[in-house]
Amino acid sequence: MTRPDFKSLIRWLDATVVSVAIAVVIGGITRLTESGLSITEWKPVSGVLPPLSEVDWVSAYAKFQEIPQAQTLHAGISMAAFKVLYWWEWLHRLLARGVGLVIAVPFFWFWAKGQIPASLTLRLASLPVLVAAQGALGWYMVSSGLVERTNVSQYRLVAHLGLALVILVIALWTSASLRVAMRGTEEQVSTSFNLTRWALVADGFAIWTFVVILSGGFVAGLRAGKSFNTFPLMAGQVVPPGYGQLDGFLKDAFENPASAQFHHRVLAIVTVFVAVGLWLWVSTADAPARVVRAQRNVALIAAAQVCLGIATLLLVVPVTVAALHQLVAVVLLGATVLAAHAARRAAREARQSGPRIERDRVPLNCAPQIGAPPADVRPCSPP
Ligand code: HEM
Repeated sequence: MTRPDFKSLIRWLDATVVSVAIAVVIGGITRLTESGLSITEWKPVSGVLPPLSEVDWVSAYAKFQEIPQAQTLHAGISMAAFKVLYWWEWLHRLLARGVGLVIAVPFFWFWAKGQIPASLTLRLASLPVLVAAQGALGWYMVSSGLVERTNVSQYRLVAHLGLALVILVIALWTSASLRVAMRGTEEQVSTSFNLTRWALVADGFAIWTFVVILSGGFVAGLRAGKSFNTFPLMAGQVVPPGYGQLDGFLKDAFENPASAQFHHRVLAIVTVFVAVGLWLWVSTADAPARVVRAQRNVALIAAAQVCLGIATLLLVVPVTVAALHQLVAVVLLGATVLAAHAARRAAREARQSGPRIERDRVPLNCAPQIGAPPADVRPCSPP
């Protein structure tokens, strides 16, 4: 019985994951170098060309001089220094266009060729839609910093970071499902370990990690990493002075730098303890090896991320370390998603671990319904 060949779809989705991760990190560097507002217009097509003449540069520089950030943070900036800012923002936008092409062109090509399993069409069709929305959200974010404010809105920054990660997770999860569909199941899972419960725990931890990442976005958006550069205490206290000074918990959490940093620290420390705890739990239980491996990866990456976060803080947010902190946050999210995927698959195999051969021989076009990998990949018969 031939297995479906999803190699090209998998390559496309993996390219999507990698290109989104690169765009997120370059976006982080653009923010860390305070370059994000250097291009004060949004020209999705013609903007691909940078200023090509001195006249163009003078015009871009003059437009920048009109925004509040040029009167404050970048007051008196030279043309040479302005060009450095411009090139970072221009690179981020170029990468963003590249991500749009990496997602949209192959999608429409695979779809036109009928190579997308029917059960995945809606999910994969959401990718070009979401990346277009990400572009618009990116401009909506930049526009928040062009008048009155000297920085973009932290809410819009976090939304922009969050949407990028949603796109990445959809691509990563589907790529993992297609891999399993091509390989078929590796081993018969018979275990006393409650894999269904573990799958719920793994899902919950992936969502929790996403929330911790968004909390990091508020720290970054509020430039909160530039204060309280000590660890573990903040100005000699566990709870920093100024915590809760704004009215309303949410307003304080999202607009008060001291509170945003405190929350991020607490969430982050809880994350690493839970990640290691879950690893110890699953590695001492009778769980399948690939489930233990996936959780081990999560625990090790979480520990590295916490060390990077503390370094980012103690070194007062140097561009390189903070950009690495952002990259490893994306890798950590990816690891939690793959751990959840492995857990769901093991739980499903454990439930179905009746006579194994029988299941493998399920005729291709009547595989079980969408929802549990790899059953969600129902090979298509071209339309
Ligand atoms: C699991 C652990 C952690 C995760 C997932 C995480 C995630 C993130 C993310 C995604 C950002 C950047 C957001 C952006 O640039 O938009 C960030 C920023 C930051 N994080 Fe963490 N973080 C973790 C642990 C820590 C720890 C333990 C500390 C320090 C005690 C820390 C301190 C910071 C600081 C100071 C920033 C702001 C840096 C900047 O302005 O770019 N993080 N974090």
